[in-house]
Amino acid sequence: MLIFELEKNSTKPLYEQLYLGIKNAIINKQIEVGTKLPSKRKLADFLNISQTTIEIAYGQLLAEGYIASRPRVGFFVEEIDELPYVEKEQVNQTFVKHEAKHFVYDFHPGKIDTESFPFSIWRKYAKELFDNSSKEFLQIGEPQGEYALRLEIAKYLYQSRGIVCKPEQIVIGSGTEHLLPMILRLIETDSKFALENPGYSAIPRIHLQNKAIPISVDEDGLIVDELEKTDANIVYITPSHQFPTGAVLSAARRTQLLKWAAKSANRYIIEDDYDSEFRYIGKPIPALQGMDQNNKVIYMSTFTKSLMPSLRVAYFVLPPTLLQKYKEIFSYYSATVPRFDQHILASFMKDGHFSKHLNRMRKIYRKKHDKLTHTLSTYYPYIKIKGDHAGMHILISIPIEKSEQDLKIQAALSNIAVYSVSDYVLKPIEVEWPTFLLGFGGIPLEQIEPAIHQLMSCWGVRKA
Ligand SMILES: Cc1ncc(COP(=O)(O)O)c(C=O)c1O
Repeated sequence: MLIFELEKNSTKPLYEQLYLGIKNAIINKQIEVGTKLPSKRKLADFLNISQTTIEIAYGQLLAEGYIASRPRVGFFVEEIDELPYVEKEQVNQTFVKHEAKHFVYDFHPGKIDTESFPFSIWRKYAKELFDNSSKEFLQIGEPQGEYALRLEIAKYLYQSRGIVCKPEQIVIGSGTEHLLPMILRLIETDSKFALENPGYSAIPRIHLQNKAIPISVDEDGLIVDELEKTDANIVYITPSHQFPTGAVLSAARRTQLLKWAAKSANRYIIEDDYDSEFRYIGKPIPALQGMDQNNKVIYMSTFTKSLMPSLRVAYFVLPPTLLQKYKEIFSYYSATVPRFDQHILASFMKDGHFSKHLNRMRKIYRKKHDKLTHTLSTYYPYIKIKGDHAGMHILISIPIEKSEQDLKIQAALSNIAVYSVSDYVLKPIEVEWPTFLLGFGGIPLEQIEPAIHQLMSCWGVRKA
């Protein structure tokens, strides 16, 4: 007979103690499969408890499949072929709800305008998709992403970015940060990575454990002369709108960079074209990939700025020379974006809503950009701005003898979130004055002026 220690004064009912005792004995193989459990009457007598208590405990074990009943014979221990659910000891865990600090004005460069998203159109496509005729999308999709979406992306890239590619060259994934490790695996053998400094901080932090080689940036973008002096063979770059300085890689540097890559078989350029849709002056800057004759550019882009960051859809375009290797390594990996989301986006693009949305957003962001730069201009020459005319953020420098950290704290005390350029460096850079990124995407147009006045006033910057 199994002996269970039942505590009559415990807050845990006796039937539960008995049920847990038998269950754990079965899980731990202390009672063998097929063993007949004692009859209710016998066990009740033995443990000196009521038969009802035994009946409830056996009933629970029966319901959970630990034992089976053979009518008029008794209860027998069953074979457990699934991972058993093991009762965990109750620990008094206190989960502290993480409340992100809410600022009245948040100049984060990653925020978008949420007022203008065409919810009704998106909903229409989602509704159409979530019915019986889409049964096939319940099955796993293609590892590279849905062909329908890759086709729309290829058309869009050709029309708006001058990129000629086939859908077969495109790989879709849930964000730049998830795609980059794939690219790195493809080209990684003995690779040394160079990155823009300052640059997109997620890249070194997530993937390269800060082992990357920082290359300086000036008003013409990445300084290729500096890259040439290193032993790097891969360079990650944002040529159309350098993040965060806003510089455009000059024509001379583009040629120099492509020549650098062509000099050796293991050299590659990863072109991140994250926000090229938004340019407010002149013509769009063509993608570097369009100039590449030697299959040296791996182009990446994202829908984070153009649609929404929460969609988590980004993609890269492989040169044809890397396709075979991609297939060898990655054909067993599934796409990381749900098929339904991919098809909603594909239909949205196919029916022309994406280009309409971009045109609308360009106007909205242009207005915000102009309002911001105009409001800031009333503080000249006590501030300087840089990196305007494109994207969703600009840079401002404040000629004040204070650290960026102190100014950030002052702004936070005034309920304003600002982000300093030193948050985006791999190696400290020399800046003449404290410099901040002001993202304007998420701030409503009418709040830009009061937000800037409040910011300048808390920093003690006067108007001209
Ligand atoms: C330079 C740069 N690249 C890429 C992204 C977008 O990344 P993801 O596609 O992971 O949202 C951002 C987002 O702000 C960015 O600043």
